Amino acid sequence: MPTRGRVHTESIEDLEFNVALQPKQFQLLEAVRNGVRYPFYGGARGGGKSYASRIIMLIMLMENPGSTGLLIRRTFKQLDGNHIRPLFRQFPKIRNWYNKSEGVMYLPNGSELMFGHAEHEDDVFNYQGQEFDFVAVEEVTQFTEFQWQYISSSCRTSNKAINPVMWATGNPGGVGHAWSKRLWIDRMHEDAEDPEDYKFISAKVFDNPALMEADPRYVQSLKNIKDEALRRAYLNGDWDIYQGQFFTQWNRHKILTKSFEIPASWPLYGALDYGESAPTSFGLYTVDFDYNIYRLMGYYQGDRTASQHAEEIVQRISGFPYTSGRMPIMIYADPSMWVKRRLTEQMTKSAADVFTDFDLPITRANNDRVNGWRICRDALLHEKFYAFDGWNDDFMRTVPALPRADKNPEDVDTHAEDHAADEWRYGMVHMYRHAEHKDDPIMGSGQDILDALPGKPAHSGRYHVLN
Ligand SMILES: Nc1ncnc2c1ncn2[C@@H]1O[C@H](COP(=O)(O)OP(=O)(O)OP(=O)(O)O)[C@@H](O)[C@H]1O
Ligand SMILES: [Mg+2]
Repeated sequence: MPTRGRVHTESIEDLEFNVALQPKQFQLLEAVRNGVRYPFYGGARGGGKSYASRIIMLIMLMENPGSTGLLIRRTFKQLDGNHIRPLFRQFPKIRNWYNKSEGVMYLPNGSELMFGHAEHEDDVFNYQGQEFDFVAVEEVTQFTEFQWQYISSSCRTSNKAINPVMWATGNPGGVGHAWSKRLWIDRMHEDAEDPEDYKFISAKVFDNPALMEADPRYVQSLKNIKDEALRRAYLNGDWDIYQGQFFTQWNRHKILTKSFEIPASWPLYGALDYGESAPTSFGLYTVDFDYNIYRLMGYYQGDRTASQHAEEIVQRISGFPYTSGRMPIMIYADPSMWVKRRLTEQMTKSAADVFTDFDLPITRANNDRVNGWRICRDALLHEKFYAFDGWNDDFMRTVPALPRADKNPEDVDTHAEDHAADEWRYGMVHMYRHAEHKDDPIMGSGQDILDALPGKPAHSGRYHVLN
């Protein structure tokens, strides 16, 4: 009887491995076997994620004698309850392989499985210098991007026959929502990230017949969740919606629209949130005769000077294919752009001065945050806001991911990536009219009639915003 470490082990043949993986779980196994570097499995509650994760880990360690695995969750309690005990319940014999004080399971074929956790940000340093052929990150959306990247540096092998794989499971929501969504859902990869590495296998409770049959009431309990955001996230794996989200009215399918030629009679506007090291966000907008607002295209770029931003924005506007190169009649901009700074010894200029030099018609936007956000939410609620599909990716990525501020639920958390949202708010405050104005006959003084015509930016004081 082979032994290893301080645990008593039995022969691996003693383990009767009677598991039937469901089709989606099998897809994950295939991805891992094929060496897809970072597959993500799940996206909703109850889809059999944890089960798949630990069984596939066992399979890989058994198929590759002498290999090492790490199964990691944010806290130990979750690890014990969700993995270690269920594993022992399912395979009582492997209890003998487990060294509790080390948190390591020694398989008779020389493979090892470490059960790890990283509750605090820097707990990941505990894995420094360690090497794992296979890493399973459970509930990845509970981890910060730093933790994910740090752990991934430990997923490597000195065995040529093995392709190291780090797979993840998780649901929408949590501190890691935004970066997980970027990598696997929105697939907006950065230069160093190979899109092929990030395979997403969606699994919902409906993909898990084991649970559906054993506990039909579980599905019902998901359907009964009162909080719409949470229900859509847990049941449908809707990544645009999550608990603590600011724009709970966000519905990607209703917002995105195919691009089309904008009639010359529809006025163009711009909105601008200014940053130099942080991104500058510019949006080009139009308003139709029913007061629907369209975000036509966006410019989103950090690490540029004011004149580089201005030059690029001018080029984007003139090169945009659906507006015949027309310039916006007004650009509602971040009021902080008017703060003067010394650019060189001789010249003191504000970012606003620089943009004006490029003939961009900027004007100070109303910066009442809470009222501005109400207007944005109202437009979503009444489906008066659209964005051209494929031209607004950074906007579509960052705005729905914004969390509420802890201290003020009427405001967004300004630590989050809020540049596109701020820019949108600057524009919306001035462009939006509440839907109830739509069928009103235009009456009143000459100025009232002028104000009511599309193309004339309305005054933010006149809106009736429903909550
Ligand atoms: N292939 C399978 N064979 C038998 N039972 C399974 C299988 N896959 C999942 N199950 C069972 O379905 C139930 C839910 O699975 P699991 O806990 O893995 O889901 P989950 O997606 O991790 O859920 P949660 O979102 O709550 O974390 C568990 O009781 C699990 O044992
Ligand atoms: Mg789970």
